[in-house]
Amino acid sequence: MREAGRILAAVHQELGKAIKPGMSTLDVDRLGEEMIRSYGCEPSFLNYCGYPASICVSVNDEVVHGIPSADRILKEGDIVSLDAGVIYKGYHSDAARTVGVGEISKEAQFLIERTRLSFFQGIKNAKAGNRLFDISGAIEDFAESFGYGVVYDLVGHGIGSSLHEEPEIPNFRPGRLHRGIKLKPGMTLAVEPMINMGTPDVMWMDDEWTVVSADHSLSAHYENTILITDNKPEILSLTEDEKAAGFLELF
Ligand code: MF3
Ligand code: CO
Repeated sequence: MREAGRILAAVHQELGKAIKPGMSTLDVDRLGEEMIRSYGCEPSFLNYCGYPASICVSVNDEVVHGIPSADRILKEGDIVSLDAGVIYKGYHSDAARTVGVGEISKEAQFLIERTRLSFFQGIKNAKAGNRLFDISGAIEDFAESFGYGVVYDLVGHGIGSSLHEEPEIPNFRPGRLHRGIKLKPGMTLAVEPMINMGTPDVMWMDDEWTVVSADHSLSAHYENTILITDNKPEILSLTEDEKAAGFLELF
């Protein structure tokens, strides 16, 4: 899984930098799939429950699971969420990043940065002996402090020899009474805040995949595959640029 994570991080780093106005979301998918295969991995999303592509490419008010299309052209000022998973020797990694296309608004930049930071706030609690929803609650508190809507209808998940394993990992406290399962060393989790600039509500489009914010406000996504240890978690899908930018100090 470390290797699956390292490869996915390299894919995200390259793919994020390749995003330019004028590309179609299908161009993004093709490029991403090529990169994944160049590392000897399989794209895990392709044909998963019928999903027709390797990369979920979700633009602006699209929250997740955008289906790549030759007709959807990225333009300056858009924000685009890139979600990908790879399989290396039978083991999975899953990670997402939201990136700007050319120059983007200050508001969009803040949304992207704060969504990312909500992940790091969450994983400050991702340590053996703590409870799962300690992660969830910290994400919720941080994101809501900016007036953002935490998407309730989609959650993170365990990950390993399958893409989606138990437990479900909400980005909010599901209730006051339960703090969730106890975290143990060796658990591998995909933690993935999905944050709307407006309300938390989402709708599914007629393609039965694309999820959009109900109020059509911008939405951002940040996901990594992490490993629980007795101390700080290990982020298996952090990019080299992110390490160089000091992200290991954020949790
Ligand atoms: N990253 C998504 C998740 O965590 C996976 C996309 S679902 C797929 O659930 F069908 F597109 F693969
Ligand atoms: Co995921």
